[in-house]
Amino acid sequence: MSGIDGKVVAITGASGGIGEATALLLAERGARLVLGARRTERLEELVARIEKAGGEAVQIRTDVTRREDLHALVAVAGEHFGRLDVLVSNAGLGTISPLDDLRVDEWDRMVDVNVKGVLHGIGAALPVFRAQGTGHFVTVASTAAFRVAPAMAVYAGTKVAVRAICEGLRQESGGSMRVTTVSPGMTATDFAEASTNSEVRADITKLRDDIAIPPEAIARVIAFAIEQPDTVDVNEIVVRPAAQS
Ligand SMILES: NC(=O)c1ccc[n+]([C@@H]2O[C@H](COP(=O)([O-])OP(=O)(O)OC[C@H]3O[C@@H](n4cnc5c(N)ncnc54)[C@H](OP(=O)(O)O)[C@@H]3O)[C@@H](O)[C@H]2O)c1
Repeated sequence: MSGIDGKVVAITGASGGIGEATALLLAERGARLVLGARRTERLEELVARIEKAGGEAVQIRTDVTRREDLHALVAVAGEHFGRLDVLVSNAGLGTISPLDDLRVDEWDRMVDVNVKGVLHGIGAALPVFRAQGTGHFVTVASTAAFRVAPAMAVYAGTKVAVRAICEGLRQESGGSMRVTTVSPGMTATDFAEASTNSEVRADITKLRDDIAIPPEAIARVIAFAIEQPDTVDVNEIVVRPAAQS
């Protein structure tokens, strides 16, 4: 199978930003979608929007920190569409702050969502992909996985971990699965709002307002990886604003 039309794609963090933009683009291109996030009212609106435009989508409340939620997300794909072709692990959190702030609960939360959330997705989808003999993991990392900056230590650490895990997964895939890591730079979403350090939040928000690219730019990159023929595995894409240093 190649292209996007007819593929069954599950997306975490589909209630906003990059996940929502990806859902809309893939639906337009004929994918059948399983949308996961915690804010189900936003997912319901998105499903309605996709269906109104002639697409197919279902939603399920998914908190990626809960292993069983990822199993349920993958199960819904099987129940509704008979298979799962792609898991887009997009859910992520950037509570950016200097280490001296000692916001240790936020460090925990970033590890739980950004790292363990991705692992829970792999744990749920891998046996399904193995049984099908095919499958595609697309994971959203960050340019922070390539370049650490002050206040970004923990967030960058989670994204470095995600890249390493996905590279290991690729090496173990044995030719039957595809593994893509997409690393966006500054993107115009609600991402910046998560930081509880007001100074850091103001800096990131300003940078976002000055240079960010739209989430649709990241969605197009994800679509590019998915639409390649089964034998073509796009492993790493870094996509950032031209103005980002
Ligand atoms: N925006 C940027 O500049 C940027 C740059 C590099 C990388 N990224 C990465 O891009 C990805 C998407 O972020 P975004 O920019 O689109 O930010 P966003 O607008 O804040 O969206 C984040 C999404 O993640 C979901 N999420 C958060 N915690 C979750 C949890 N525990 N379980 C399930 N879903 C959860 C949210 O849904 P609910 O709240 O409804 O659960 C939301 O849909 C993240 O992995 C982020 O690290 C973003």
